[in-house]
Amino acid sequence: MRDWIVACAVGDIDEEDLIRWDHEGHAFAIYNTEEGFFATDVMCTHEQQSLEDGLVIGTVIECPLHQGRFDVRSGKALSAPVCVDLKTYETRVEDGKVFIKL
Ligand code: FES
Repeated sequence: MRDWIVACAVGDIDEEDLIRWDHEGHAFAIYNTEEGFFATDVMCTHEQQSLEDGLVIGTVIECPLHQGRFDVRSGKALSAPVCVDLKTYETRVEDGKVFIKL
């Protein structure tokens, strides 16, 4: 069964930015985009690089190491060298908090 877990407050993430969130040994990236909040795994699927220092452009995250890009809404790999999609997680906002479904 999957549960909704509070990850952070809405105000914890600047607009067009992301934070890393660690939960039970797993690291997630939570994004505040022009289309709302989204969550993915924090590790790039190309090499062992965290996306937390990456650049958020609209609803796209650009990896800081080789500039591969993913759509944070779907996790879809958009540009070389990434070709494996990121895992995504459902999010919702309630009472000023961002919840992730795990
Ligand atoms: S490690 Fe992310 S694009 Fe290479």
